[in-house]
Amino acid sequence: MGAPLPTPLQIRTTVDARDRPLRDLRISVLDRCNFRCPYCMPADQYPEHHPFLQRQDLLSFEEIERLARVFVGLGVRKLRLTGGEPLLRRDLPLLVGMLAAIPGVEDLALTTNGVLLPRLAESLRAAGLRRLTVSLDALDPAIFRRLSGDRGEVAEVLAGIAAAERAGFAAVKINCVVMRDVNEDEVLSLAAHFRGSGHLVRFIEYMDVGTLNDWRAERVVPSAELLARIAARWPLRAVDAGYRGEVAQRHAYADGAGEIGFISSVSAPFCGDCTRARLSADGRLYTCLFARDGFDLRKALRGGDDDAALATLIADRWSLRDDRYSERRAELRNTPRDRVEMYHVGG
Ligand code: GTP
Ligand code: 5AD
Ligand code: SF4
Ligand code: SF4
Repeated sequence: MGAPLPTPLQIRTTVDARDRPLRDLRISVLDRCNFRCPYCMPADQYPEHHPFLQRQDLLSFEEIERLARVFVGLGVRKLRLTGGEPLLRRDLPLLVGMLAAIPGVEDLALTTNGVLLPRLAESLRAAGLRRLTVSLDALDPAIFRRLSGDRGEVAEVLAGIAAAERAGFAAVKINCVVMRDVNEDEVLSLAAHFRGSGHLVRFIEYMDVGTLNDWRAERVVPSAELLARIAARWPLRAVDAGYRGEVAQRHAYADGAGEIGFISSVSAPFCGDCTRARLSADGRLYTCLFARDGFDLRKALRGGDDDAALATLIADRWSLRDDRYSERRAELRNTPRDRVEMYHVGG
C-alpha cells in the first residue's frame, strides 16, 4: 500500500480574526512549581497548600498527545512544554517521546527553571527534546535567592545548564525577567557570563500577567535602556528575526561573541505576529497570555468527541480570536478584569 492520502484535517490552515495563523502550541504540563518568583507566583500569595490542580484534573499524556496531534492538523509546527515547572511532572521524558513522534512537529522545546536538569537532561534529550530555555534572573546568590522566592540556589541552575550542555543541548536560551531596583544591575554580569558560551541570554520586560504579582509600570526596565547599557560595554548590531513572529529582538556582539535578545512586550508589543495558543494542564485553551478564561477542551475530550470534532472546536475558537492585549494595555488596564495567572499557562 502507498502512503495514505492527506486527509482534510492535515491540510487545513487556520487563521484568526486578525489573519494570524495558528503555528505554536505551548503546553503546560502542571501548575506547581518549586520556586516562587515574585513576578509569577509571589510566595505570600501561593503558600505550599495553595489549591493547585489535583492529579485527576491534569490531562494524561495520552490526552495531551491526542490534542497535540489535532493542533498539528490545524497548522501547529512548534510545541513548547511549560508549567509551573514542567520537570516536576512525573515521567516527562515519556511525554516528550510521544510528542516528538507526531508527524509535522518541526520544533519541540521546553522552558524550565533548570533545577532538575542534572537529573533529567539526558533522558529528555534521548526522548527527542530539541531545545531548552532556562530561566535565570541573577548570578548574585542573594539576588537570585530573592527572585526564586527563597526557594532556589543559583549554583543549582548553573549546574542544570552544564548538565544540559553535557546532554547535547546547544544554544540554550537563558530567560531573565528584569525588575527595576531588584535585578537590573545583574544584566551586565549575565551578559558577561554567557558571552562566548554559545548560549543566548534574553532580557524580558516585567509583564502584568495575572492579577497577583503586584505589577507596576515603574518596575519595568525598558529594553532600550538595557540595550544602551550593554552596548556601551560591548558594541552590538541588530540581527533580523529568525522567523516571523519571533518574540525576541536579537542583537549580536560586534566582536563575534554571540547574541543576546530582548523581549519587550511592554515597550514594543508584538501581538500583530502572535501565532501562539496555550493549553493549560487541565486542558483549557487560551488564545492570549492575558486571556480572562480558557475554552474547556478536556470536557470535549472526556465527553467522547472524536478528533474531527475537537479540530472543529479549536478551529472555531481560533477563528474568533481577536486578542492583542499588549497593544491595548494602556486602555485595558483601567478596566478591572480577571486574567489567567502565568503559572497556569506557562509564560
Ligand atoms: P523561541 O522559540 O526560543 O523563540 O521561544 P519563545 O521566545 O517563544 O519562548 P519562551 O518561552 O522562552 O518565551 C520567552 C518569554 O517571552 C515568555 O516567558 C514570556 O515572558 C514572553 N512571551 C512569550 N510569548 C509571549 C506572548 O505571546 N505574549 C507575551 N506578551 N509575552 C510572551
Ligand atoms: N513578566 C515577564 N515574564 C514572566 N515570566 C513569568 N512571569 C513573568 C512576568 N510577570 C516568564 C519567565 C520565565 C517564564 C516561564 O515565564 O521568563 O522564564
Ligand atoms: Fe516557577 Fe517559572 Fe513561575 Fe518562577 S516563573 S514561579 S520558576 S513557573
Ligand atoms: Fe499574543 Fe496576547 Fe501576548 Fe499579544 S499579549 S503577543 S496576543 S499572547
